[in-house]
Amino acid sequence: MPRIVDLRSDTVTRPGPEMRRAMAEADVGDDVFGDDPTVIALQERMATLFGKVAALFVPSGTMANQVALAAHTQRGDEVICDRNCHIFNFEVAAPAVLSGIQLNPLDGEQGVITAEQIAPHIRPKNVHLPNTRLIAIENTHNRGAGKIFPLDEMQRIRELASEHGLSVHLDGARLANAVAASDISFEQYASCADTVSMCFSKGLGAPVGSIVAGTSELIKRAHKARKLFGGGMRQAGILAAAAMYALDNHLSRLTEDHRTASRIGKLIDTTDGLERVFSVETNMVIFRVDESFMSAGEFLSVLEENGILTAAIRPGVIRMVTHLDVNADDVDHVGEVLATVKAS
Ligand SMILES: Cc1ncc(COP(=O)(O)O)c(C=O)c1O
Repeated sequence: MPRIVDLRSDTVTRPGPEMRRAMAEADVGDDVFGDDPTVIALQERMATLFGKVAALFVPSGTMANQVALAAHTQRGDEVICDRNCHIFNFEVAAPAVLSGIQLNPLDGEQGVITAEQIAPHIRPKNVHLPNTRLIAIENTHNRGAGKIFPLDEMQRIRELASEHGLSVHLDGARLANAVAASDISFEQYASCADTVSMCFSKGLGAPVGSIVAGTSELIKRAHKARKLFGGGMRQAGILAAAAMYALDNHLSRLTEDHRTASRIGKLIDTTDGLERVFSVETNMVIFRVDESFMSAGEFLSVLEENGILTAAIRPGVIRMVTHLDVNADDVDHVGEVLATVKAS
């Protein structure tokens, strides 16, 4: 069978036999009735990991963000975020549709907005103005090529928010990658936010599921929003068991994905006509194809003909993401194919 190296996203991993066994053997109950022991255990584990009081298991990262936004806000409120964040770009205008709120996107640097930058955008109380209610940040940053949001900046944002009576939501879909790549714990990152989300279905390799953690009041509100948005699941312990398995077995291997991504970054750097856009901090590489050398479409076709799947995130800009199912031999293959591109 020809080699397929799927670098489109870290969401493409398939659960292996051990994870499937854990899923098959999970104790389950009806989670909408609050009866599923495996979901309860996962929620407690994640609340503890984040240093929060409560946590809620949800089907997706999008739902984790949206139930958190719903928990924090009222109709007509405003949320400050980075212009390239997932919530603003890839959640189908859900903040407007589901919660009746407006986003105020600022131009971050590789996804990082600063407290200094945010401060003038906090609205004064005035009958004409929306109420600034929340600051949303993303760590690691997807469109920022897996950039780690610096902890000290997160702390400054936390302080600013507290001074103004605002809350902070951390979209930590890939927070596990930030933790793996730094000396900073889940709890330290989460301490900068009132709610924090994380996905089990990305680098951690579970098929489905995300978590959102916070105070018991916020999680109660998020729970109600989950039901409203149609995210109540019944015997969800089967999925929670996959998340548990991922936490036990896949957290510590994320550094391998970072090494693999770093190797791919170096290959991009030595290929004529390709230009890396950002440094490689975790499991993503974003680069530009020089149109005078080859069109991005042609480049993607050459890769695809050789079994390498990637995605263009903007015209001419390509993202490669490493994960559980990309090994050292796969990177060798990427190198061989890039060498042929170079020669053509
Ligand atoms: C930063 C970030 N947040 C949220 C999500 C949404 O996750 P899901 O696809 O599970 O809805 C993604 C998905 O890639 C993401 O990158």
